[in-house]
Parts: sequence; C-alpha cells; structure tokens
Amino acid sequence: MFAKVYSCCLQGIEAIPIEVEVDISNGLPAFSIVGLPDSAVREALERVRAAVKNCGYQFPMSRVTVNMAPADVRKEGTGFDLAIAAGLLIASGQLPPIEGKTMIVGELSLDGLVRPVPGILSVADDAGRLGFEQLILPAANLHEAIGWSKLSLQPLSHLKQWPGTSAPLEPTSHQAAQLRFSRSQASPVDYADIRGQKRAKRAMAIAAAGMHNSLLIGPPGTGKTMLATRLPGILPPFDTLESLETTKIYSVANLLHQRGNRLSDRPFRSPHHTISAAGMIGGGSPPKPGEVSLAHGGILFLDELPEFPRTVLELLRQPLEDNQVTISRARATYTYPSRFLLVAAMNPCPCGYAGTESKTRTCRCTVNRLEQYRGKLSGPLLDRIDLHVEVPRLKPDEIKDAAAPLSNADLLAWIETAHQTQRARGQNPAEQWNSRLQGRNFAAACALPHEAEELLQAAYESLGLSMRAHSRIIRIARTIADMEGSESIQFDHFAEALQYRCLDRDLLPT
Ligand SMILES: Nc1ncnc2c1ncn2[C@@H]1O[C@H](COP(=O)(O)OP(=O)(O)OP(=O)(O)O)[C@@H](O)[C@H]1O
Ligand SMILES: [Mg+2]
Repeated sequence: MFAKVYSCCLQGIEAIPIEVEVDISNGLPAFSIVGLPDSAVREALERVRAAVKNCGYQFPMSRVTVNMAPADVRKEGTGFDLAIAAGLLIASGQLPPIEGKTMIVGELSLDGLVRPVPGILSVADDAGRLGFEQLILPAANLHEAIGWSKLSLQPLSHLKQWPGTSAPLEPTSHQAAQLRFSRSQASPVDYADIRGQKRAKRAMAIAAAGMHNSLLIGPPGTGKTMLATRLPGILPPFDTLESLETTKIYSVANLLHQRGNRLSDRPFRSPHHTISAAGMIGGGSPPKPGEVSLAHGGILFLDELPEFPRTVLELLRQPLEDNQVTISRARATYTYPSRFLLVAAMNPCPCGYAGTESKTRTCRCTVNRLEQYRGKLSGPLLDRIDLHVEVPRLKPDEIKDAAAPLSNADLLAWIETAHQTQRARGQNPAEQWNSRLQGRNFAAACALPHEAEELLQAAYESLGLSMRAHSRIIRIARTIADMEGSESIQFDHFAEALQYRCLDRDLLPT
C-alpha cells in the first residue's frame, strides 16, 4: 500500500515543494524515514505515531517507510508532521485520497492538535505559483495566508477534522487582495519636536526621498537619535510587492503574530550594540533572518555606531551592496532579502566634543583613545554611507527662534514629488529609489551639466573619493533634482549633494 502527498520546506523565504511518499509493506513493525531529514523531521515519527493513535485511527502493525523527495534538499523543521500523518492514513485506507494538487503543512501535537509553523505566507504564495490548487494548513496560521494567495485554503485545528471525515471545513475562497498602503498618520512623534537643525532635517528629507544611507555625527544631546527615529514618518508608503516580500520575512521569522497578517508600515529596526553577528545578519539552526532582513524595505538604525563590534559592522558590507544576505551551510544555502536604509548616529569622539570645542568645553580624549574609537569604523563601511550629516550644538538664538521648527508636513512637501517621480520611472522595487539606480537606468537619469562634471572631478582628487562615492554623490544630486521637480540635474543640485561628502574632516573618522 502506497500514498503520495505534498509538503514543503523553506530555504530562506522560498518554499521548496517536497513529495512525501509513504509505503506500508509486510514485515516486522517498523517506522522509518529517509531523504535527508534533520533531527526535528526524524522526531516527527514519534509525534505522528502518538497523534494517529490518540485520534482513534489504527497505526499499521507493518513496515512503514516514509521517503521525502527530492532527496538532495535538506528537510528541516516540524512542518512535515501533518503530511506524514495524512500519507500514512491514506496508504492504510483509513482516509480517502486527496483530490486536486494539495500541499499539506503543519506540526502535530501528541493528541492530534495541529500546531502553527513559521513561513506560511511563503508557502501559500509559492504553492499558488507552482500550480497547487489547495493548501491544508494549521488554523492558527490562516490569517497569514489569507488575502495574499489565490489558493484554496483548508485550515485544520485537529487531525480528527481531516477534510472528508467527521467535520470537514469548507475551503476558504478568497482572492488576492488589492492592497492600498498609505502613510500612517498616527505617528506620535514629528520633526516639529526638534528645534533648529534645519540642515540635518534637510538631509533626512533627502535620505527619505531617495532612500540614501545616512550617518549623523555630533556632540551628545543635539538630537541625532530624535532625527533618526522620526524618519519612518516621512518614508514613501509601502507598495504591495514590497510589503509582500517584507511580510514573508516576518512570517519565516515567526514574528507576524505581532503585526497582524501584513506589514502596512515600513519596518524600523534599532538593534542594541551588544547584538551578535548571527543576530545582525541571520543564522542559527534552522537559520532565521537577522536584523538586516527584518529591516527589509525599511530602516536599520544603528545608534552609537562605534559601540558595535567591528566584526558585526563589517558584516553589513555585503548586504549594503547586494541587497541580500546569503547564509551557506554544508547542505543548504539560504538567501534572505535585505534592502534597507541604513541610518547611523555617533559622537565624533569618546568624550563627545571633538571638533566642537567651546570656551567652557574641550575634548578630553587622548590621541590613542580617539584612534581606537574611530578605528571601529572601516573605510569601506563609511564609503557605503551616502550622507554624512553634522548635527551641531544649537546656538542660543536658534533655540529661541520664533519661527515654527520644520515639521513632517514641511519635509513631506519637499519629498512627495520625488517619490512620485521615482515611482513613475517604472523601475521595480529593487531599483525604484535613486540610491539603487544601476547601469542603463543610472546613465539615463543621471547626466550632469558640464560645470558639475568639472567640480566632481576636482572633488574626486581633493577629497580622495572612491568610484563608489563618485556615483553616490550623483545619485543624491538626482534625488535633490527630483525634490525640486527638475527633469535634469542642475549645478545647484549637485553642489548641495557634494556638501554631504565633505563634512569637516575633524569630525569624520579616518
Ligand atoms: N534640537 C532639539 N530640539 C529639542 N529637543 C532636543 C533637541 N536636541 C536634543 N533634545 C532633547 O535632548 C534629548 C536627547 O536627544 P537625543 O537623544 O536625540 O540626543 P543625541 O544627539 O542622540 O545624543 P547622544 O549623542 O548622547 O546619543 C531629547 O530627548 C530632547 O529632549
Ligand atoms: Mg543618541
């Protein structure tokens, strides 16, 4: 007696379909599994044996072999329990065969309860695209899949409710929802809370307009953390595709229960500087996405940048360039998207006052301490940060300034045209924002006027710029031009962009 059902395993945020074959043949009673299972999958046999018996079914007193194909894909996690139990009960004639191409995912408890598993959104989305008609899934995961996939969904909370037996549940018919995202109006914080700092706010507006990485440098208590934490309020709203991708990452990381069934706002991740390499980049067994992936489509804010271990900071170099993280294990490779806007904040030195001395306060750092502090930040990491922004101590008249401070609404007035222009250029989300323009799109959008070319050449020499910095300055100029509604980059746009690369050398780590 033989039965074949389908389940799947996750590699990164991709669901790989797995055929689960169950064969019952004469011989001494045995229950074995083959096909590169990990220990959690091998333990499934014990859970399935107990669940089948406790739900009133007969466990066959014969030789039962479970094979999972393709054999070269490593099978991890507990999501195969339900498929193995279904295959066993169909092969032994206790359940009727399933009609239509069906994927089955779920963990079983010993009494037959179907427990939720991570990554259901990826499963539902990929199964639909791979030609499956139906997904049998844990009832507790239903909210994740609903509205995103065109599959018929069959939620199951107990093995006894198996479709076609005592209490079949009708498949939930639904269509992929047409989602509309808008900027959340309910943000409790606003840029109007910050007095002065007009230049820094302008830089934040440019960062949000073209998704440019930024570094805020200044003495203690000048508003760096305030500037960064208010950034989500002026980012462009999510579109459906971006939200689907980010929501998949949260589904795989098992964090979706905190956010409903979709992420409607771009994520803002602010990990503490004691974070480990695996926490930042992803890892573990089975691998889980790290902070760089949880920030996908949104912001990764690293406050007190030099306090992070240098090894952790260096790991950011690959995702900042490739927009994805690949974790390689002996038997499998996992890729997680990680396209984020990096915002970092730091003091110019350990005591906080280097380069900003006044009559009453001077920098007390020794040369050694200063070098140690600045040495935490490598040249390649700083090269990937487009906007270097000084956040100085306010002058007394700036504090008293009668004019209302720039608010979210003021900044959005600058930015919204830029968002629309970039979206209208019709690039996909991976390349939609100016900071990510590449190849032909970059060449088409980023022609410089003659005087700007000359200035750039001079700056390239005098500031010792890299070719990466060279093109990043042009991208910022493109964003400023978009903010002004200008079709081509003008000299003024370029000159403003260049300022964000030639911050006072005393402040910049070398
Ligand atoms: N420009 C400002 N306008 C209004 N309040 C401010 C401003 N700058 C700082 N503050 C006040 O100071 C507090 C600290 O600000 P914030 O945490 O942003 O400083 P910081 O620059 O990040 O300092 P540190 O370098 O010590 O981290 C805020 O909670 C706020 O009350
Ligand atoms: Mg701070």
